[in-house]
Amino acid sequence: MRNVTQQNISDVVIAALSSDIPARNRQILENLIRHIHAFCIETKVTHAELIQACQFLVRAGHISDDARNEFILLSDILGIEVLVDMLDLTDGESESTVLGPFYRENPPVLPKGASIVQKSFEGSQSVRVSGTISDTSGRPIPGVIIDVWEDAPNGLYEQQDPEQPDYNLRGRFLTDEEGRYEFVGIRPAPYPIPYDGAAGELLNYMGHHPWRPGHIHFMIQKDGYQSLVSQIYDADTKYLDNDAVFAVKESLIGKLHKGPAGSDTDLVMEFDFKLKPKAAEIAVAAE
Ligand SMILES: [Fe+2]
Repeated sequence: MRNVTQQNISDVVIAALSSDIPARNRQILENLIRHIHAFCIETKVTHAELIQACQFLVRAGHISDDARNEFILLSDILGIEVLVDMLDLTDGESESTVLGPFYRENPPVLPKGASIVQKSFEGSQSVRVSGTISDTSGRPIPGVIIDVWEDAPNGLYEQQDPEQPDYNLRGRFLTDEEGRYEFVGIRPAPYPIPYDGAAGELLNYMGHHPWRPGHIHFMIQKDGYQSLVSQIYDADTKYLDNDAVFAVKESLIGKLHKGPAGSDTDLVMEFDFKLKPKAAEIAVAAE
């Protein structure tokens, strides 16, 4: 019988992996095991701390449901989601950033230029957001599906707020023949990520605040192109330099200008995105 020691524990556990598992699973598990073991050794994790960590994850599970994913919040607070996201970037396409925990499938399908505001809020500023979606060579792409979502002036997304109509401040749009999209929303407000659960505990451990800068979320999809999940940040919002989830990128900052004379919104913002074609897949499929 093999004697398991601090020195060989990683090799012993890795040796237990079946030779039949997919190569990627093996790579993930091997690295995970080696890094977690190294972390425990280097940090001298105590048994009591391990139990505390497990109980913390149980609490994160209990507070999660279909409308709330506490584990995404935890990965955001630790900068993990934004880091994973960066590993994907190659030259040319718009920068992506975190999905966050508030996306909902199947938002209302709306015509170009329509408003996503189902309920008006006192003091909020309306904004017409428009732009062109093109490929990395600058060719506009018609028929791109664009899901947008944002929070209300009270800092809450509709699923967090019983006072808002279902799917308020969400919509799905298509680009026209010139690759143009357009919709009316409101100036997004900074908001604290939910800190009444495990994410709040983690922020307390860190001594960090929960606030995010005002932003509008985008999910942009078109067959033959790499999907883009991103956000536009209001250039004049608070917390641009101190986002609780580290997701701000310079290229994703958009300026909200006063609406021109005759404009039906208080503000306007133009923001273009570039998608990366899945060239390799198209070439393979054509053969
Ligand atoms: Fe958000």
